[in-house]
Amino acid sequence: MPIASNASQVFASSFRALGNALGTARRGCALIFWTVTGLLAFAARNAANARQAYRKPSKVIAAEELVLFARRAGGAWAKILQILSTRRDVVSEDAAAILATVTQQVGGREPPNVHRRIADHLQFRGVDVQHLSIQPIASGSIAFVYKITAAGLDFPLALKLRRPGIIRTLARDFALLGHAANLLRRFPALAHLPLPAMARSFSETIERQSDFSLEAAYIARFGDKFARSNCRIARVIPALSSEDMLFMAFEEERFEIDSVTPRFGIGAYQNLVRCVYEMIFVHGLFHCDVHPGNVFFDARGNALFLDLGIVKEITEDEREDLADFFLCIALNRGKRAADTLLAKATTIPPGIDRAQFRREIADVVRRSSGLKAGQFSAVSFVVQLFDVMRSHGIVGTADFIWMIAVLVTLEGPVKAAYPDLDFQRIAVDVITASRGVPVE
Ligand SMILES: Nc1ncnc2c1ncn2[C@@H]1O[C@H](COP(=O)(O)OP(=O)(O)O)[C@@H](O)[C@H]1O
Ligand SMILES: [Mg+2]
Repeated sequence: MPIASNASQVFASSFRALGNALGTARRGCALIFWTVTGLLAFAARNAANARQAYRKPSKVIAAEELVLFARRAGGAWAKILQILSTRRDVVSEDAAAILATVTQQVGGREPPNVHRRIADHLQFRGVDVQHLSIQPIASGSIAFVYKITAAGLDFPLALKLRRPGIIRTLARDFALLGHAANLLRRFPALAHLPLPAMARSFSETIERQSDFSLEAAYIARFGDKFARSNCRIARVIPALSSEDMLFMAFEEERFEIDSVTPRFGIGAYQNLVRCVYEMIFVHGLFHCDVHPGNVFFDARGNALFLDLGIVKEITEDEREDLADFFLCIALNRGKRAADTLLAKATTIPPGIDRAQFRREIADVVRRSSGLKAGQFSAVSFVVQLFDVMRSHGIVGTADFIWMIAVLVTLEGPVKAAYPDLDFQRIAVDVITASRGVPVE
């Protein structure tokens, strides 16, 4: 290769790297600015509020400021709020309702000339676009969603149109997340958490969410696996879809899973939990973002999974490990749980007291084993596990992080609707049925 062309390639790639670094730094500065102004606004409003006769709870003011922050920042930040909104038990009922507004309406600028673009796209793909109607439905963290009807369509469609610039924004957020993880790891209190590995896993998985051809492929695979069950998956129209436009059948009847006065009986919630467990423990291919903006009930109370952007696929061994670990909790096998944690740990200091570690983990497991949804808390269980690990200097695995994320998100709506739901028992049933033999 000529030297001049080599030099120009080196120059181009250094120029790109510099552009990326500058973009990430600018995003970092913007995030810091919004955080500081948000905190100041919160402090000022909270102080003014203290002098009012009717006082808004501080959590509500904080939720309002967080929503403002998520609408400005978009990207990964809206997603964090969507997850937080499922935890009425943590953030309070009123604050959760405010946070939940970001599950459907993140806001932000629509791509230019949407109507023209959609009409041209459909026409190019052979659809008769007479009487075309394009109705905005939602603005999610990744996409704007429209309901589309036209003379040439047999049924209404949902179009997910990717937000302009979202791929770049996510890449920058994850670069920042990676730096933050490396920094936080230096604090002794956090040294035992596999933070960089967690950040890497989040980045890889969520970044894939912006590629709609991948999402369409996942939807097709889920559709095959769950074709004959009470778990319904969005129906994609591949002939119309592209990398940044995902066309699906429009699901007119979709009902909230997150409701204090549930529309459906406990059976619908048991089925929802069973669907999620089958994804994790049987297929090793699971929806990782089960918040109420992505998962619904249909009119018959079947679980309806719409947004399959964040999906995790694990190996057979990882699937077996997850299933085993969950059984350890449900069946109160604390010492075996401790052995799994040791076997999967990334760092074990020499000379640790294994017997003591097993006893302490067994205690944590005993306190949670057999609890119904209302009493169990995935967050506090995980915090207790990590506490024991930290006290022994053990750095844990990042492999369980997605299952924990799913449990933490699903737990809120299930708890609020049916605190008596025995979600540990359902896991045992699903795993037993898939193994074909009773669990020993
Ligand atoms: N197939 C569909 N039918 C009806 N509504 C849909 C469909 N897909 C998405 N929506 C609506 O759009 C919202 C946002 O869609 P989603 O796929 O979650 O976008 P994002 O990836 O940006 O989070 C959903 O909460 C739902 O209300
Ligand atoms: Mg979504």
